[in-house]
Order: sequence, then structure tokens, then C-alpha cells
Amino acid sequence: MITEKENESIKQAAEALKRNEIAAIPTETVYGLAANALSEAAVKKIFEAKGRPQNNPLIVHISEISQMEQYAFPDERAYLLAETFWPGPLTIIMKKREIIPLVVTAGLDSVGLRMPENEIARKIISLAGVPLAAPSANLSGKPSPTKAEHVKNDYAGKLDQNGKPLVRWIVDGGECACGVESTVVSLLDEIPVLLRPGFVTFEELRKVLPNLMIAPGVVQKIETEKPLSPGLVHRHYAADADTEGVEGESAFASLYINKESKNFQNPAVMCFRGEESLYSPDFRTAVYGDFKKPEELAKNLFDCLRELDGERHGKIFIRLPSPDGVGLAVYNRLLRSCEFQVTRCPPFAIGLTGQSGAGKGTIAKELEKHGFYHIDGDRLAGDAYADVQEELTEVFGEDILKNGVISREKLSQKVFSLPHGLDRLNPIIHGSILQKAIRIAERQAKIGRPSVFDGAALFESGADRLCKMVVAVVAPEEKRLPRVLKRDGISKEQALRRFSGQKNDDFYTEKSDLVLCNDGSCSVEFLAEKILKNLSEKK
Ligand code: TXA
Ligand code: MG
Repeated sequence: MITEKENESIKQAAEALKRNEIAAIPTETVYGLAANALSEAAVKKIFEAKGRPQNNPLIVHISEISQMEQYAFPDERAYLLAETFWPGPLTIIMKKREIIPLVVTAGLDSVGLRMPENEIARKIISLAGVPLAAPSANLSGKPSPTKAEHVKNDYAGKLDQNGKPLVRWIVDGGECACGVESTVVSLLDEIPVLLRPGFVTFEELRKVLPNLMIAPGVVQKIETEKPLSPGLVHRHYAADADTEGVEGESAFASLYINKESKNFQNPAVMCFRGEESLYSPDFRTAVYGDFKKPEELAKNLFDCLRELDGERHGKIFIRLPSPDGVGLAVYNRLLRSCEFQVTRCPPFAIGLTGQSGAGKGTIAKELEKHGFYHIDGDRLAGDAYADVQEELTEVFGEDILKNGVISREKLSQKVFSLPHGLDRLNPIIHGSILQKAIRIAERQAKIGRPSVFDGAALFESGADRLCKMVVAVVAPEEKRLPRVLKRDGISKEQALRRFSGQKNDDFYTEKSDLVLCNDGSCSVEFLAEKILKNLSEKK
């Protein structure tokens, strides 16, 4: 429902737009800075007011689906999208008609059209009687405005050539429902492309356009000269403060942030609900929503960023959401806010692997002296069988049991008697070991301790992807042999048989971040220092 007061300012804004002035208007996504899209002079005022690069095209807002034909050449897919998602937060890029001036489209022969859902926005468009070109109403580069006061703050004290306020008409429609700009889909080619994620999600769009692709720039930094959408390359949504995105589970991310923040004055973190208590008390924490509710994160994203930025922090850490559904839109905006400065915080700081007898256990012990918690994969393997007993009997049958518990001997006989037996056993056992290791790492992270996970099957189990850094330890066979004989009390033949089944140096060199040769020529202390140095350089 539109109130009496709103009605008055809606009429004023519509009148101003008819006179080819600019006006800030609410939409369901973010506030837009609007002008008559058919007037070159009017549209130029938008670029001037925002300080927007001339090569970044504007979206044209319409109030009826039927108006698509007047400004563009919609095909069947365009109608399908419009009928499914309009009015709503979706912009469709199509070939433009002559009537749209080139200044709107930054010289391109295509135009983005959108029919907003916000009642006030549509009323202004129909009262103005013209389509409205409207980018987000922020100063170029700043976070988009989701409240009228954000627009007021951005343009406070800024005057035009006649000494009048630069943005004189601001229609206050309250807080925007979505909080992130519309989803942008290009229909210029046979294969439709998602250029900017938004509230209409990739998953929803796929149901209508099964061959829809995501433009590489959505979650990646692109350096190309001619991007599909110019908006993808500009510095965007940025705070004045130095910002850094942090990915990963709460416990591991907060461990990193607490440590890293010591390098900055007055640090702040924009985090998920429930994480506040994980940060040092002298930390400014601002919750922007629930990790499981990306719609909430989207709605508060820019407001929260603007609020923190106003407080002059030496550094703002931002927790990044999972990039799916509406989360992809939030993720995409935050990558740009942080100018792609992102740190991933997996469960294990260091993953150690290598050949048997190469000395990874010794190195892990050395790392303990530097404050790391040593999680020994081999030791966890012992309990792992008992934990997945049910699954194992399901796969290999009841005869792997002895007195009601798994017999390692019977199990191994069974496994080797079956084709691909090992391929069926490994994922079950590895999964169980990994889950235990992650739980341990989580407990350690909560008391501020990073973990080193030491596992012979680090790569085979997929654990390497859960490590910030993977270190392989190798050594020539003649060095490893005496170590193994002494440690495991096995015969030379048994040791050599074990070696023959192992991976060679090339395998480790290709897959690891760092390969250490522990042939006795350097001390363990030296090797551990080398790991720590590499770790601190790795972002
Ligand atoms: O939700 C929204 O779309 C808001 C509200 C005000 O409607 N508007 C908005 O506009 O976000 P703006 O200018 O901040 O973003 C427009 C995006 C840019 O990334 C631009 O590069 C892209 O749309 N775009 C516009 N026309 C295009 C075209 N012809 N080809 C490729 N990309 C285009
Ligand atoms: Mg914008």
C-alpha cells in the first residue's frame, strides 16, 4: 500500500523525471538513480552525478511486459523469462531498438530491460510516461543503497551547476526487500548467460532456460579487455577501509581472523549470527544474517557494510557465504567489495603426507613445538573400523566379524578377494577418519590452535582439499629403509613390498604445495621452519 506522504513524493519525482531531471527511487532490489531513458541529456546527468564510467551501460525500467517490444527485440526466451519472473528482480539483455539512445547502453547495440516489482517504482514509471534508465543510486564504486538515507548520505552537500542539490528528489520507500541488484541475463547469443547473480537464482532460471551458463566473471577475477558485461570489471561495492573476505567453517575462520587482526588497528568483522562470541572482545562484530538464510544476508549486506565503513576501521573482515542460490549474489558482491582479496580457512592449516619412513611424524612433532595440534591419521584409523562397522558389514557381509566386532584380518581377506574391494573399502574408512579429524581440528580451533593433519592417504581421501597447505615429505629409499625397520619391527622384504606400493617423488611434487626431502642433510627444525615460512606467505 502506498501512503499519502509517499504519493506526494512519487508525483513530485515523476514530474521531475518528465522535465528530464534525475530522481532517486526505491525498487525491490536497491535504490535507483533514474532519468528519462529516451533523453540523452537526462541520462547524462546520471553518469555525472554518480561519477560512473562512460562504458558501463544502464538498465532501462519499464512498467508493463508489453513495453519490451517498444525498446528491444525480444525473442521467445525473453517472453518466457518475463512471464515467469516479472515484475521482479530480473534484467534481460536483448538487442536494442533505435529509440534507446547510445548513451544509455554505453555504445552497445543491446539494452537491459527490467520491470520492477516494487509498487512505488512502477507507479513512478507509469506517471512519468517514459521508460527510466536507472543504475543503483550509490556514488560509483560504493556499496549500493538499500535505504533512502544511504542515498542522502552519498550525495549530502553535493551541488549541481545551478547550486541546487545534485540529487534533489529522493523518494523514500523504506528498506529494499532484496538488498542486492537484479539478476542480469543476456539473451544476445544462442546460449543464454548469467552476467550478474541476484534474487532470481541460477537454479530457478535453469528451469526456464536449461542451457543457461554463468559468465566467468561472476565468481572469478577477469582481466579481459572486452568483458560480456562492463559492470563485471569495475571496482564495486567497496568500503573505504581495507576489506578481506574469509571463507570456511566458523571455528577455522575465526581462528584465522583473530590471529590476523593483530596486525591492524580497530579491526571489525562482518559475520554470521552465532559467530560473535568466537571473536576477541576488543573486536567490533556486526552480524549481517544467518549463514543458512542467504536472503537475510542479501538484505543486510550493503547496510552493514556502510555502517562499518562509517566507523573507520583499520580492517574489515567479511565472512563469505556459500555461493549457491541467493548466496551466489551475496558472494559475487562481496568478492568485489574485497577486490578479490579472499582467504580460505579449511579445517587443517597443514596437511602432511609422504613416503613411509620419510619422517612426516617427526616433522609433525616439531610443528607441535610451534603451537600446532598434531592429528595422526594412522592413529585415528584404529577406531575408524569400529565406527563404520554397520556400513562395512552391509558392503562386505557378516563374515568379516569375529565375536561381534570387525576382524581386521577377516576384513582384509574379504577385501582382497573381491574385485575392486579396496575401492569400496577406502571411501568408507577415509570418510570416517576425516570426520574424526575435522571434529578434533574444530575443538582445537576453538581454543585458538591450528592443526596439522598427518595422513599417508591424504590425496586419496580428498583430505588435501581441506588443508590450507599440503606438504609432502620424501627421502631416498636407503634412508627410509633403516627407519622403517627400526620403527615398525618388520622384515626387510616386508618393508620393500610396502615401498613398492607407494607413490614416487613426481606424484608428490605435482600435487603438493611444498615437497621436503628429508635425507638427513637438513635438521628437522630447519624443515619445520621452512613449512612455517611457506604457510605464512600463502593466502
Ligand atoms: O536491481 C537493479 O538492477 C538496480 C535497480 C536500480 O534496478 N540497478 C542496477 O543498475 O543495479 P547498475 O547500473 O548498478 O547495474 C547494471 C548492470 C551493470 O553490471 C551493467 O554492466 C549491466 O547491468 N548491463 C546493463 N546493460 C547491459 C548490456 N547492454 N550488456 C551487458 N551488461 C549490461
Ligand atoms: Mg551499481
